[in-house]
Amino acid sequence: MYYPEELIEEIRARNDIVSVISEYVKLQRRGSSYFGLCPFHNEKSPSFSVSPDKQMYYCFGCGAGGNVFTFLQEYENYSFPEALKYLADRAGVELPKEELSQEARRQQDLKTQILNVNKMAAKYFYYQLRSENGKQAMEYLKKRELSPETMKSFGLGYANKYSNDLYLYLKKQGISDELLKESGLMNVDEKRGMYDKFWNRVIFPIMDVNNRVIGFGGRVMGDGKPKYLNSPETKVFDKSRNLYGLNVARTSRKKQFLLCEGYMDVISLHQAGFKNAVASLGTALTTQHAGLLKRYTNEVILTYDSDEAGVRAALRAIPILKAAGISARVLHMDPYKDPDEFIKALGAEAFQERIDQAQNSFLFELSILENQYNLKDPEGKTAFFEKAAEKLLEFDQELERENYIQAVAEKYRISFDSLRRMVNRQAMKGVVKKEREKDREVQKRQQTREDGGRTCQKLLLTWLIEKKGLYDRLKAYLAPSDFTDPLYREVAEKLFEQLKAGEVNPARILSAYEDTERQREVAALFNAHVELDNKHEMEKALGEAVRRILEDSIAFRTQMLDPLDMKGLQALIADKRRLEAMGNLQISLD
Ligand code: UTP
Ligand code: MN
Repeated sequence: MYYPEELIEEIRARNDIVSVISEYVKLQRRGSSYFGLCPFHNEKSPSFSVSPDKQMYYCFGCGAGGNVFTFLQEYENYSFPEALKYLADRAGVELPKEELSQEARRQQDLKTQILNVNKMAAKYFYYQLRSENGKQAMEYLKKRELSPETMKSFGLGYANKYSNDLYLYLKKQGISDELLKESGLMNVDEKRGMYDKFWNRVIFPIMDVNNRVIGFGGRVMGDGKPKYLNSPETKVFDKSRNLYGLNVARTSRKKQFLLCEGYMDVISLHQAGFKNAVASLGTALTTQHAGLLKRYTNEVILTYDSDEAGVRAALRAIPILKAAGISARVLHMDPYKDPDEFIKALGAEAFQERIDQAQNSFLFELSILENQYNLKDPEGKTAFFEKAAEKLLEFDQELERENYIQAVAEKYRISFDSLRRMVNRQAMKGVVKKEREKDREVQKRQQTREDGGRTCQKLLLTWLIEKKGLYDRLKAYLAPSDFTDPLYREVAEKLFEQLKAGEVNPARILSAYEDTERQREVAALFNAHVELDNKHEMEKALGEAVRRILEDSIAFRTQMLDPLDMKGLQALIADKRRLEAMGNLQISLD
């Protein structure tokens, strides 16, 4: 898939970012930028900025950022070619067809074709449920107390009793066997040939965030086995990257998300007004799921089944969520098995109460741990608290650790001081662990220093595009090679080239990166921000930033220097002298 850079740039330039994003987000002018509520995380006051000068957006709250292509890739979940196509159409630019390589086109076509077949199948199932054939299935769903509106909004359907019903239907529509095989809707075996995967089942279409049908789940009506059949993974269905219900939940604008186990839980929760419920169907929660959730929320309430499997799933999910920066709480459903049963029995209000009372994930983990010890026995009790003290050590921050020590002490009715002593003793005990912690601390300090250096590099890149004339004053001191981070250096090279030619165009630099994560990183480089009151402070900060970058650059080059490279060494020494001679650098901003 290759388009010439000029064409990409032309399409980008012909789609003003403010006008494109305005179609999705309400923007208001403030100074040289526009601001609105960030569509990528929940917030009450606007920190999402769109700059007409830079032709970029950046959220000071969650760090989402990029150019007009990035926005569509992130918001609409478009691939780059899809975003390009959309914007080309929008600006009336015709895309040359032959630019896609044949293989890329085949793959792309295949995805589109599978989505198309899925759509046809979903419509067919939907229609069957509402026809004479689907009477029994309709009865079943009604018995489960689903309203017609709910059935409609989740696109529920029914697969007929015969094992070649859908097959014959899709064949009649001209779908090839090869495509049917790729769609995951058919089973193929040597004896029987190709036949429907789903028959005599209630059908739950699975949609991605853009409401495209990517797969199906089918439930037997009654107690048959297996209870649910699911589409296999296909070119359009990646189970570890999709959450059932997210297409609706992402627009619910609730502070937290509810994470549950199955189709029916999501559906009954939505029907009861909890439109923030999602499920990771049949598969355990993955890092990718957590990353996806993090785009929309900072807090997840685990509403897994109350059985042993549900508890195990929760214990697995907590660290995964935590690693993604999401805090988790655990909802207690007892005496009911799952949200669906709970809501049927006690209703939405009672469920909201349980949400409010959901347990802190650390205390939940501890209460499960507790079951492995006999707390009635003094020895067992001591062993438990020792284990608890060890777990409490995992909190790096002192205040947080103290808070948890207090919570645990209260919960288990022991004195705060004795628990804290126990934690401290545990800390001394594990010498190996202590070493590890020390390493961590050194690492942290190094990290802080590195972060400081990076901040300076970011600030400078931002100022270089925002402050006209700065480049001319700086170029004598600074070269792209002084940026120590490889990505920053690469961006600096591109930017310096533009500055030299007098054509600053940061949004174009972004287009060089395919991956939206990268685009986001680069956008951050052009949107660094510090609070500075006046020009004097600004000039001071500028001088300090340049100095710091040069220092880091020299330190970095010293580290990388080949000891036999005499020329390199001489150059380094010269640079060091120059830096020393520079003293306090004053760069005027006039
Ligand atoms: P559950 O058995 O809890 O299903 O499995 P459920 O959603 O509560 O369904 P009902 O209320 O009995 O109709 C949780 C999830 O695990 C997957 C499905 O995604 C289901 O929603 N599962 C379960 C399967 O894939 N296959 C099975 O046979 C069972
Ligand atoms: Mn259930």
